[in-house]
Amino acid sequence: MEMANKQRKVLRHLKFTRLCTWLLSFFAILPSRQSFNYGEALSKSLLYFESQRSGRLPYNQRVVWRYHSGLTDGLEQGVDLVGGYYDAGDNVKFGLPMAFTITMLSWSVIEYSEQISGAGEYEHALEAIKWGTDYFIKAHTHPHVLWAEVGDGDTDHYCWQRPEDMTTSRHAYKVDENNPGSDIAGETAAAMAAASIVFRKTNPHYSHLLLHHAEQLFEFGDKYRGKYDESVKVAKGHYTSVSGYMDELLLILPIPFSFLNSFDNLNFFILSLQLLAGKSHRKHQHILNEYRSRAEYYLCACLNKNNVTNVQRTPGGLLYIRQWNNMQYVSTAAFLLTTYSDHLQASNQRLQCDQGTLDPSDIFKFAKSQVDYILGYNPMGMSYLVGYGAKYPARVHHRGASIESYKEQKDFIGCMQGYDIGYSRQGPNPNVLTGALVGGPDMKDQFRDERENYMQTEACTYNTATLVGVFAKLHWLEKDYLSANPSLFAYRR
Ligand SMILES: *[C@@H]1O[C@H](CO)[C@@H](O)[C@H](O)[C@H]1NC(C)=O
Repeated sequence: MEMANKQRKVLRHLKFTRLCTWLLSFFAILPSRQSFNYGEALSKSLLYFESQRSGRLPYNQRVVWRYHSGLTDGLEQGVDLVGGYYDAGDNVKFGLPMAFTITMLSWSVIEYSEQISGAGEYEHALEAIKWGTDYFIKAHTHPHVLWAEVGDGDTDHYCWQRPEDMTTSRHAYKVDENNPGSDIAGETAAAMAAASIVFRKTNPHYSHLLLHHAEQLFEFGDKYRGKYDESVKVAKGHYTSVSGYMDELLLILPIPFSFLNSFDNLNFFILSLQLLAGKSHRKHQHILNEYRSRAEYYLCACLNKNNVTNVQRTPGGLLYIRQWNNMQYVSTAAFLLTTYSDHLQASNQRLQCDQGTLDPSDIFKFAKSQVDYILGYNPMGMSYLVGYGAKYPARVHHRGASIESYKEQKDFIGCMQGYDIGYSRQGPNPNVLTGALVGGPDMKDQFRDERENYMQTEACTYNTATLVGVFAKLHWLEKDYLSANPSLFAYRR
């Protein structure tokens, strides 16, 4: 109980200091050269998750070109695996990136619930999370069994079909005691634990259920150690577990399970960097310190402030890691820079890098520059968020979007037929994949809007998931500041 009081105090303090950050950082970003409608970007980003839905679509589905699909997923193995999300431009349900997507969406809602509510998008954000967690609950059929994937990249990529027409293998793959997958178990546990915080107030029963699954999954991942791509061989080459399973286990290591029952404390675990400031866990302090120094090294690298290793930037100023789906790194960095700047501001700290010390507002300003690049402030004058702005990718590498909607054209389109009808289509996709963040431009800011150019024109759920909170924060800043200073409307237009 004493702990809960402390938490409330800390939270109150956080809220006040954050208000100051917002005001301060708004002054810092005022001279921006182009202003964007972040509220619209936020609304669109959440629509994207509806396009990626698998399973039976609900009555309130807003993306109307999609229809029910994958209704027999899991049937072959006698489990109900209907639902969840298609990962990218294909029709495979990959559990690991799906869990990461839900973790990041939940984290965004935890951090920026007020801002998301303020934009009128809170319900939509919760629906996006629940579509994933409902599926994880189904996929976790036994304390030590987690269904990790439905379909496989090789047979799926051989065909070009709308999800509504799929004739590809829907074989499901699992991890269990004999075929462990600590990474996927850990990441799924993290996603469910984070989502349990999200639903604590609006749906306490569901929140407890998620926590229960998270505990079991964590225990399973911890006890039966192994990498999931060793167990689920079809994942290899698509989502190879490069760093092994320690990252995912570490993500949840700092919480003993008795501690999990206190949701406010769990909040701090998810925001494990903030946990450091909270001094809640001396026992794991060394792990957290290690985490912190690695995280700060990474942030300094993004800000070009390390002596040795920094992240490359394009001439237009975009962080550049690699040519295939570079935007995933940009959007994740924008999220981490934003939340970390909030954390520093709230605890009255600055970021120490080799080449100087940075204020929270400097860090946030850089995060904003990355978001503005995404939305159109770039040499191509192109928004990489599909459906946003005047110019955006029209030939997104996406099976469903590139073929007429099933609702308008119900004739079955076969595996190879789709290549003629959709993939090789000269014109734009008939369906706009609104809110998708595509792979993005090359190291010289160049972008070729062609369907076969999957390195640049394919989008993934985890690209967009990390933007939700950042859009909400930016929207909130503008709205709040402008309503307090109406005279600035003239200046800004
Ligand atoms: C980084 O470089 C500066 C200037 O060359 C030097 O003063 C500083 O000690 C270096 N820091 C580290 C951590 O190597």
